[in-house]
Amino acid sequence: CNFLVEKDRRAICDILVNALQRLEYRGYDSAGIGIDGDHEGEVLLFKQVGKVAALRQLIDSSNVDFTKTFFAQCSIAHTRWATHGQPSPINCHPLRSDKNNEFIVVHNGIVTNSPELRQVLQKRGYVFESETDTEAVAVLCKYIWDSQPSQRLTFTTLVKAVIKELEGSFAFVFKSIHFPNEVVTARRGSPLLIGVKTDKKLKVDFVDVELTQDQEKFGSTAATATPVAPTANGMLAPPTMAQSKIERQQSRAFLSDDGMPQPIEFFIASDASAVIEHTKRVLYLEDDDIAHIAEGELHIHRLRRDDNISAVRAIETLEIELAEIMKGKFDHFMQKEIYEQPESVVNTMRGRVNFDTRKITLGGLRSYLNVIRRCRRIVFCACGTSYHSCIATRAIFEELTEIPVSVELASDFLDRKTPIFRDDVCVFVSQSGETADTILAMRYCLERGALCVGVVNTVGSTISRESHCGIHINAGPEIGVASTKAYTSQYIALIMMAIQLSEDRISLTQRRNQIIDGLHELPGQIQKVLASDHLLQVFAKETLANSRSLLIMGRGFQYATCLEGALKIKEISYMHSEGILAGELKHGPLALIDENMPVIIIMTRDSLYPKVQSALAQVTARKGQPIIICNDDDDSINPKMKTIRVPRTVDCLQGLLNIIPLQLLSYHLAILNGFDVDFPRNLAKSVTTE
Ligand code: G6P
Repeated sequence: CNFLVEKDRRAICDILVNALQRLEYRGYDSAGIGIDGDHEGEVLLFKQVGKVAALRQLIDSSNVDFTKTFFAQCSIAHTRWATHGQPSPINCHPLRSDKNNEFIVVHNGIVTNSPELRQVLQKRGYVFESETDTEAVAVLCKYIWDSQPSQRLTFTTLVKAVIKELEGSFAFVFKSIHFPNEVVTARRGSPLLIGVKTDKKLKVDFVDVELTQDQEKFGSTAATATPVAPTANGMLAPPTMAQSKIERQQSRAFLSDDGMPQPIEFFIASDASAVIEHTKRVLYLEDDDIAHIAEGELHIHRLRRDDNISAVRAIETLEIELAEIMKGKFDHFMQKEIYEQPESVVNTMRGRVNFDTRKITLGGLRSYLNVIRRCRRIVFCACGTSYHSCIATRAIFEELTEIPVSVELASDFLDRKTPIFRDDVCVFVSQSGETADTILAMRYCLERGALCVGVVNTVGSTISRESHCGIHINAGPEIGVASTKAYTSQYIALIMMAIQLSEDRISLTQRRNQIIDGLHELPGQIQKVLASDHLLQVFAKETLANSRSLLIMGRGFQYATCLEGALKIKEISYMHSEGILAGELKHGPLALIDENMPVIIIMTRDSLYPKVQSALAQVTARKGQPIIICNDDDDSINPKMKTIRVPRTVDCLQGLLNIIPLQLLSYHLAILNGFDVDFPRNLAKSVTTE
């Protein structure tokens, strides 16, 4: 939204499309924008399936006048990840209320009661053109608008009435021909932030929230099953909106000191990477916030009064740089992120590990350390790669803290309705801090009174805000859908946490010191592993590229490496791959082994080395020809065998080095097969729906 800032249509389209491109890493299958037409009351929609580049082409080849200038306007854009209805231009956002585009909306999340809404609205004669849940929201806007011809609804009041009817999770932005140069945005369960850009100094660095007294839901009662309940004659009752009462009126406007409006731009997005090139000043909306932008002013309203939520939204300054989210000299974000690991692991430890005194201080846990030490068990909960970082560190966590640790996949944890108690400590690990399953698991534990610790990469994310305390892993933005540097940083963050929790155990001092010394060596050792990239490219090409399957075996600390390595291979090279606990080999997987089955065995030196040697013997006895990941000083391995050599470190840190060849192998396999490494098919970076 710009106000008193001159922009031509070309510039507006570029801002929107560039922002969508910055969000590409979240995964999507189609994209669209909604902008003002040449005449008042006209909204133009452009939608395209596939990449954002295809949308750009569609816009460029249209016959709109790109020189038309606007001094005030609001436009919206979206990349869609299909949940309801196939990827197609009709199902792509913005969704509209009708053929005149009276109300258009972009939506991130799922409206779970959309079938009921759709049914009721269809009965009222409203026509639907898409298969999406979101369209019901746009049409509901129109229904409410049409039902109030005599009342002058504000845009905010209208959206409030709509939101009250919705179930599910969402971040919305609404635009309407009835409210030119205005937008309303609202969230529940999906992230949303607003960037503020002005040449003048901001008059305030916060926005007061207008607390609204609870309203009746229109046309329904608490007892009805469907949110918009038909009345006895099967019709929706007309909306009643009169009850809205503002409790607090000093919502801040961005006006100059003399009270005159000032030029200003607002950028609403689900992720900071979309706004960072325009402004670093952002505020994060909370669930059930409804923000209204009009006439260069921002007002935030609450859907209903809620004493637990602060009535102030601070405007924060982002610390990431645009360069940090650009590819630089690398061909792909994933490749860049693999190569960034010598620095990203340092950033995770920076200011926290003192290598001289061998002391670790995690500021985010300071006030909670003793509570955690006294808990009866620790529950790690995460999805995907983040889950593997929990498996990787569980053993050392138990060894150092002497507290039982269980590791849970967030979805399964919820499915089982796992018993959680007040004296449990639950640790939620998530790169994005926005994974729906992990957030829901955290809220489940919060409700049961457990202490909730977040281990996240994204500052300001839902998990970092809603957890009691936590650790930011500081790996920098991760764009590639397949997680790499976040894994190594999560791993280190959890190890640091275990070390700090155990600092009162004198008997473990030597073990802690050994690990801290190991952490010190790590960046240089990662660099050494990266230097074998060419060899890995050769392995990928000559040994694995044409295989249909790959087994990765190991045990103890390396089991997590096997799982994570296999996940990387699956995710981006679409090859079947399985991480196998070598101890389980004889209980099934051995049946798969013959001379044609590609196998990688992780056999770095630790106390389980002899057991892995015996797994190797079982594989070779069945004519298997495994590739072995081993330490660079290990001369006990048959020289005829193919090896990938890595430096040796402390047992519990070895997985940090062993995973890197597997990340690189998966990368090369994907490239050799011509796959899109950064945006693998069917996957999203941040899965914000259940
Ligand atoms: C998706 C991504 C994975 C990621 C997982 C958990 O499935 O494709 O790469 O590991 O989500 O994400 P989180 O942001 O919670 O770590």
